[in-house]
Amino acid sequence: MSDNTSQANADRSAIGAATRRVDGRLKVTGAAKYAADHHLEGMAYAYGVFSTVASGRISKIDTDAARKLPGVIDIFHRGHFSNLYRVPKTKDSPTSKLDAAVVDEHRLPFEDDKVSHAGQFVALVVAETFEQARAAAYAVKVSYEAGTVIANLDQAVKAHGVKKAGSGHERGNAAEAFDQAALKVDATYGTPVETHNPMEMHATVASWKDGKLHVYESTQGVVVHRATLARVFGVTPDRVNVEAPFIGSGFGSKLWAWPHAIAASAAAREVGRPVQLVIPRMQMFTTTGHRPETRQHMRLATDAGGKLSSVRHESINTTSFIDQYTETCGGVTQGLYVCPNVLVSHSTTEVNHGTPTSMRAPGAAPGLFALESAIDEMALAANLDPLEFRKRNFAEMDESQKLPWSSNHLLEAYDRGAAKFGWDKRLPEVGSMREGSEVIGYGMAACNWEAFRTPADARVGLRADGTIEVTCGVQDIGTGTYTIVAQAVSAVTGVPLERIKVRLGDASFPAGPVSGGSWATASVLPAVAKATRDAIDQLKVIAAGADSPFAKAKPDTLKLEGGKLTDGKQSVDFGEVLKSQKVAAAEAEAHTDANTNDKLSFRSFGAHFVEVRWDAGISRLRVSRVVSAIDVGRIINSKTAANQVEGAVVMAIGMALFEATEYDERTGLPVNNNYAEYVVPVHADQPEIDVILLDYPDYGLNEFGARGIGEIGTTGLAAAVANAVYHATGKRVRQLPITLEKLM
Ligand code: MOS
Repeated sequence: MSDNTSQANADRSAIGAATRRVDGRLKVTGAAKYAADHHLEGMAYAYGVFSTVASGRISKIDTDAARKLPGVIDIFHRGHFSNLYRVPKTKDSPTSKLDAAVVDEHRLPFEDDKVSHAGQFVALVVAETFEQARAAAYAVKVSYEAGTVIANLDQAVKAHGVKKAGSGHERGNAAEAFDQAALKVDATYGTPVETHNPMEMHATVASWKDGKLHVYESTQGVVVHRATLARVFGVTPDRVNVEAPFIGSGFGSKLWAWPHAIAASAAAREVGRPVQLVIPRMQMFTTTGHRPETRQHMRLATDAGGKLSSVRHESINTTSFIDQYTETCGGVTQGLYVCPNVLVSHSTTEVNHGTPTSMRAPGAAPGLFALESAIDEMALAANLDPLEFRKRNFAEMDESQKLPWSSNHLLEAYDRGAAKFGWDKRLPEVGSMREGSEVIGYGMAACNWEAFRTPADARVGLRADGTIEVTCGVQDIGTGTYTIVAQAVSAVTGVPLERIKVRLGDASFPAGPVSGGSWATASVLPAVAKATRDAIDQLKVIAAGADSPFAKAKPDTLKLEGGKLTDGKQSVDFGEVLKSQKVAAAEAEAHTDANTNDKLSFRSFGAHFVEVRWDAGISRLRVSRVVSAIDVGRIINSKTAANQVEGAVVMAIGMALFEATEYDERTGLPVNNNYAEYVVPVHADQPEIDVILLDYPDYGLNEFGARGIGEIGTTGLAAAVANAVYHATGKRVRQLPITLEKLM
């Protein structure tokens, strides 16, 4: 802990407080403008034409009828965007380089006549109004030479097997240890394709002026998006800007640019007018990513005392025919439990789907469904309470990296979660807990997520009007970033939140990371705090000028306390000091680096405890109660942090009970591509959710001790539900979602 830390700690009321969202009023009054809320002067509207077949090639596109419809300005398809450039694969990772160009789908819009999935963009209509563009899009006649459809993982494995992907792990000899073990579990788990369904649809508003491109995009990363567009259009990044001040979430689908963003900007360049393109909900099931289908073979073994002696986690996931995407299901399995013999491997197999991408807790969400279900089965095989089993196999260090944990309070999470939930009231026998017509099941699981810190830049200005302005090219995707940035500045300066103006979501601001991977908090707050301290140093130098209340003072003898500059004798509001010197602002821009500590393993931990109720008479399954105890380092805002876990639990209840994107085997089209048939939890599905935030600072990661909280709550929950369902019904559901027919 440095001196800086104690300064950042100065206002404890700000850090950790249950502060309300500073942007809340803008959102509830409709004043917050999202991407598609921008209607520019002379703007035209675009609508896509999407492939009705899942494989093969486009033989002809007939636009004659469509072009005659009212309001049509132009129609683009194969060959029309010839002056675009691909984003090359590089070693730059967004955790180490903020302005790396990244795409999920490397193919450029309309660059060839191949069809890799149903719902692929094959043409784009631009018209005077949205309705005219849509009508014309439906009038474009596309002919295909359709190939055979590979609609799911089973078909893909049968057709062409699997490809080994990287990111595996091996220690000891898991096969040998398994063969020699007394107690074993050998089971295969599966998770279906899940589709991100953020409330705000993907949208682009693109305009070109004097060779410069400006874009409003619903993106989780304005800086990466700008770098990507600059690459694609062959211009320098200073000729592109991307704004996303408000985002109705993304869950990973808005991390990197999809074809629509490129197509909209290309069309705007061609027609010489601003163009708005909104992706219809239906096409968000085909063109903006999804969590791929997984098949996970788990083999676990213990000694007679229930100590793990062998763990194997071998997963396959579907990917597209155009891009390789690996769902790293076994990532957490490498280190969550103490075990000398571990094998983790990942493979992929190609299907006629669009390219998959990260979806909230990629790898860990499906991976911990398999691992934490298998651990439950293993505990029962060893005749141990599942909680006791996990405690017995607690990993004192990260054995996969042979490193100590930076901070790990998993055992306390187990105990506090269990106490709050009343785990001790669990009767071990299946189906033994009843109330009226319902049978009650208790299940639990660990949750886990990595803790990264990326580089970040931020600018802070203490202004003569007594306000502080902060700018950073990070985004608030609904998680509370505006609020916690303001809290960090308040903590350093003692200035109340009302006088702190935070501006985010603009690629022209000092570079921030993508809002993904649970990276933003741990990465951005240190840069904001550093810029604030540097701005205060500027203020002190300015304060020592002639005619200042602090004339002739040595700058380093001055202090900013409660927003006032003081030399111990007098205190003057910083704005007054600046005014006395006729200086508009004391400003500084700061850069902080990625986490380079390779002597510790940085992860977040937690445990979910779940109660389910199964009413066999009417085949009703409900998740009735959830207690989640979460160890994510220091909590910056206890309200928004708890919101993140609650939201993650809701999303994971969807994963456990409802969500699956179903593909028609004949056409390869998702059949439930809408909010009516792709079922997500609604209010009536919500249990009581009780979030316990452990709040142990992890100062190895940053001066605030915060690790980030967006994803961890999504992990493990589906397994806890499945384990509770087994406890209630005796049915072990190994394929998500846990639909009613699986229990009847
Ligand atoms: Mo998250 S899947 O990195 O948005």
